[in-house]
Amino acid sequence: MSKFIIKGGETLSGEVNISSAKNAVLPIIAATILSGDKCVIENCPMLLDVFVITDLLKTLGAKINIDLLENKLEIDTSYVKCTDIDSELVRKMRGSFFIAGPMISRFGKVKMALPGGCNIGTRPVDLHLKGFKALGVNINIDHGFVEASTSKLLGSKIYLDFPSVGATENIIMASVLAEGETIIENAAEEPEVADLSNFLNKMGANISGIGTDRITIKGVKKLKGVTYRPIYDRIEVGTFMIAAVISKSLIKINGINEEHIKPIIAKLAEMGVCMEKYDNSLIVDGRRKLKPVDIKTMPYPGFPTDMQPQIMALLCCVDGTSVITETIFENRFMHVPEMTRMGANIKIDGRSAIIHGGTEFTGCSVKATDLRAGAALILLALAAEGETEVTDIYHVDRGYVSIEKKLQNLGADIKRM
Ligand code: UD1
Repeated sequence: MSKFIIKGGETLSGEVNISSAKNAVLPIIAATILSGDKCVIENCPMLLDVFVITDLLKTLGAKINIDLLENKLEIDTSYVKCTDIDSELVRKMRGSFFIAGPMISRFGKVKMALPGGCNIGTRPVDLHLKGFKALGVNINIDHGFVEASTSKLLGSKIYLDFPSVGATENIIMASVLAEGETIIENAAEEPEVADLSNFLNKMGANISGIGTDRITIKGVKKLKGVTYRPIYDRIEVGTFMIAAVISKSLIKINGINEEHIKPIIAKLAEMGVCMEKYDNSLIVDGRRKLKPVDIKTMPYPGFPTDMQPQIMALLCCVDGTSVITETIFENRFMHVPEMTRMGANIKIDGRSAIIHGGTEFTGCSVKATDLRAGAALILLALAAEGETEVTDIYHVDRGYVSIEKKLQNLGADIKRM
């Protein structure tokens, strides 16, 4: 099994190019099913999770061409059939559930394994199912499988009890071809939901209220294949912003949308980090003395839960006490014991972590317990004295394109073994 070996203490410099967002591209790939045509995804991040969802589409009959040199994905869903869905692939990644909405929309039915929980929480799909039911879908859950069927999808008004990203996306995909109008209230406002909606509109859908908590979908008869370039990965941007600060360096990050990273910029600015924007690049200067801050993760435009472990790594290195409250996932402090092994002083109190920062860090062997936890340990290793070994890095490969190569180009001492 691969691992990263990181020698801390190097100063970073230079530029890093950001890839497209994993969380945008996964539902977009699923949505290509709706076209029954050929779609091209440009600047596609070639990640483990992308290969899982393209494998799933292949089992359904899609023809897929992956161009690793051009980072281009060509998907022809003309021959997709409504067959049973590979449970192994569904269990590999929660994002597999994105194909439920498009399959119901195109074929009026789908049967697939429930995705189950993961390290960071139980992560049910009740809100996805609530939305499908409102559109006239019969749902049956039996032996860990969900079977959905309908003779006709009818637009409806759906209120989400929580602005779930995945549920909002699945309901949008299920309703674009439904008869009449669907309104999703308390919808997720994340940029990735907006990107999926823009992709669908380019295909011919009629979605308005994009980027707000009230999304209206007017059903259309047919969608067509298109070429699309997804948005930049705001979480990858945030991770490299912290790489600059934690290593007390100055770097330039290319491929940003300032609006999408506002909550991260706001917190780093509060800590005393200097940042300057040029076109779609951001210069981050982490060479100043920093102050501790309190952070609460919230749905967008609040501080993203997917940046919580990484900013915790940084706060561990800042003199004083910071408090992080995690409100999205109930079990997203798995990285704390690993950080403690490196020298961190963190106490967990329910959904809050109290960080007494400014302790000395030394390298040791730590485990990536999930995707963002793995990224956070790599960041902390950049600031630690000596060598850190990060194991179970397949989690990191799920969501970061060649993170070690991008860090090496900036001057970090990191090797994949
Ligand atoms: C997406 C992102 C993930 C990010 C998360 C929150 C993708 C592929 N993943 O995950 O990286 O951390 O948004 O920004 O885009 N919930 C329910 N019932 C449901 C659905 C969700 O109770 O039917 C709960 C979850 O357990 C969780 C909260 O709602 O506590 C937020 O989950 P959600 O927004 O759905 O996250 P995902 O779409 O799974």
